[in-house]
Amino acid sequence: MFAVLSDIHSNIEALSVVLADIEKHGIKTIYCLGDVVGYGPNPKECLDLIIEKADWCVLGNHDYAVFYEPTNFNYGAEQASFWTRDVLETEQEGNHNDRRWSFLGNLPMRRSLAIEIGANTSNIDFVHASPRRPVNEYIFPDDVYTNPAKFRLLFERVKHICFVGHTHMPGVFLDEPDFYLPDELGGVYPIIDDEKAIINIGSVGQPRDRDNRASYVYVDKNKVHFVRLEYDFETTAKKILAIEQLDNFHAERLRDGR
Ligand SMILES: [Fe+2]
Repeated sequence: MFAVLSDIHSNIEALSVVLADIEKHGIKTIYCLGDVVGYGPNPKECLDLIIEKADWCVLGNHDYAVFYEPTNFNYGAEQASFWTRDVLETEQEGNHNDRRWSFLGNLPMRRSLAIEIGANTSNIDFVHASPRRPVNEYIFPDDVYTNPAKFRLLFERVKHICFVGHTHMPGVFLDEPDFYLPDELGGVYPIIDDEKAIINIGSVGQPRDRDNRASYVYVDKNKVHFVRLEYDFETTAKKILAIEQLDNFHAERLRDGR
């Protein structure tokens, strides 16, 4: 069994609830798809928890923005990444900040595993955004209708299963192309030998599918379970509103899940 989580966005309230649920399931292996920081008020705390609890993490565009530079960010997202950088640079706590910077500066763009699923071995890739542009490309549910050709090119890069985050909208893309919301699958996607899938695991700390609950998945045998958890978003929102450099919209969107 392993859990996959993504897009925490410095939201310690959501991350704590997700980690507690993972522990409750007895899951010891945790993979993270990036965007640990950005938007939210607790970058240090979230980095420390992910460094401690996750087996590994891949690079998200917001992690890249804080360590290197923001690329194609709107004003609010850019300001949040500069504020995050200030927090990680200016607060002196011995080796903790060195450890956080070293973590951000060493995130790989992808991870691949061969995992025993039932009687077979499955090739599973893990990226933040997309199999062909692992850090920045958005794969939206609407692309299935507006840009179906995109999926032929995307699935050429998928051996069997590819886990992604980035859009903060959970669900499963198949190569027809097609998109299924977790609810349409009864909350579970079974990995099948001859079916390729790009699986979006949603966002821990800033869901955008009009459901304000934290999202993650865990994989048990061949089944991918989509999980949603309520958390205290009011506390997170209040902290964001109290920090001048963080756009108020980052607080409001937590309530609406958008
Ligand atoms: Fe994100």
